[in-house]
Amino acid sequence: MPRCIQFVTDRAISPSAPVYTDQEPVAIAQGTERTVKVLSLTIQPHPASHHHRILSPIFPDNVAQYFRIIPHGRQAPAGKEDRVSDKGMSLSGNRVVVIGGATGVGFAVADLARAQGAEVVVASRNEAKIHAAVERLGSATGRTVDLRDEAQVADFFGALGSYDHLVITAGDWDLPMFGTLSDLDLGQARELLTVRFWGVLAAAKYGAKSIAAGGSITLTGGMLAHRPGKGTVMATTMAGAIEFLARGLAMDLAPVRVNAVCLGLILTEIVKQRPEAALQSMVAPLPVPRAASPTEAAKAYVYLMTNAYVTGQILPVDGGGMLV
Ligand SMILES: NC(=O)c1ccc[n+]([C@@H]2O[C@H](COP(=O)([O-])OP(=O)(O)OC[C@H]3O[C@@H](n4cnc5c(N)ncnc54)[C@H](OP(=O)(O)O)[C@@H]3O)[C@@H](O)[C@H]2O)c1
Repeated sequence: MPRCIQFVTDRAISPSAPVYTDQEPVAIAQGTERTVKVLSLTIQPHPASHHHRILSPIFPDNVAQYFRIIPHGRQAPAGKEDRVSDKGMSLSGNRVVVIGGATGVGFAVADLARAQGAEVVVASRNEAKIHAAVERLGSATGRTVDLRDEAQVADFFGALGSYDHLVITAGDWDLPMFGTLSDLDLGQARELLTVRFWGVLAAAKYGAKSIAAGGSITLTGGMLAHRPGKGTVMATTMAGAIEFLARGLAMDLAPVRVNAVCLGLILTEIVKQRPEAALQSMVAPLPVPRAASPTEAAKAYVYLMTNAYVTGQILPVDGGGMLV
């Protein structure tokens, strides 16, 4: 009978992912170039393996020193990563969590991730909206969470368990986002950052604890970070803050990858409520002179989730807006 050794350190891999010693299909490989720490894991070393002697419950960090841990089925073993395969670029077997997934871009991300084989969890504040999203998605689960409330965010991730990718598209539209500085109410300006900045930071903080090895976080920014105009001071600030947050987190949370999608005009339900003429004037100067569909935006998130060598990047989906 294989001996079981448990150890605890500060990063998670999915408890459901089988883990093998180097005597089995390579899931733990010797090497020091890249390390993954494990939150709680039972290892069943092959009786003939000498490596299990290093896996001590007393010195858990030794694991990171001597082994590269690869959850079986989630990452290709070293040396086999160059080959292009559908499996490598799909989300099959991954658990994807989308906060803001009830509607709009987040819903499209959830839908595309589900179509690529992911187990999807959609979350937002409103239970009825989450219920409707789960119904439309067909196979997904839903949970409520309000990013304005740190305790709720902590509880949400505490109850969620291990997962692979976190996408955050949450954004509220309750307060006016546009207006010139002279008219700006500073109290409202502070509140504007509650969900789109502080809420995102809270989600990253609590969510990072249970992301599996090879996992990622993808945030959401917008083109106004790069193309400010009269009256966009707060929208520009929020979008810019997200980009720098993604870059900072990419270093701080490594090897978890962190990126952001920079959205141009995406034709979600909320955007469709704006006057057609206003939308037309925004897209007319673009090299691709139209708004994007939510699915076109979603493809960028899926790319950032599936390309395991991309981190700290800002990916525009903007119809060429950066060029004009
Ligand atoms: N669409 C565009 O053209 C565009 C362009 C640039 C940037 N963006 C940004 O992209 C994001 C998504 O936009 P969208 O058009 O898809 O908007 P959307 O359809 O309104 O989606 C936003 C989602 O966030 C959820 N949400 C709001 N407040 C929340 C909170 N406190 N906690 C948790 N979830 C919350 C909402 O659901 P509940 O009401 O159930 O909470 C909703 O499902 C927004 O942050 C937006 O600023 C969009």
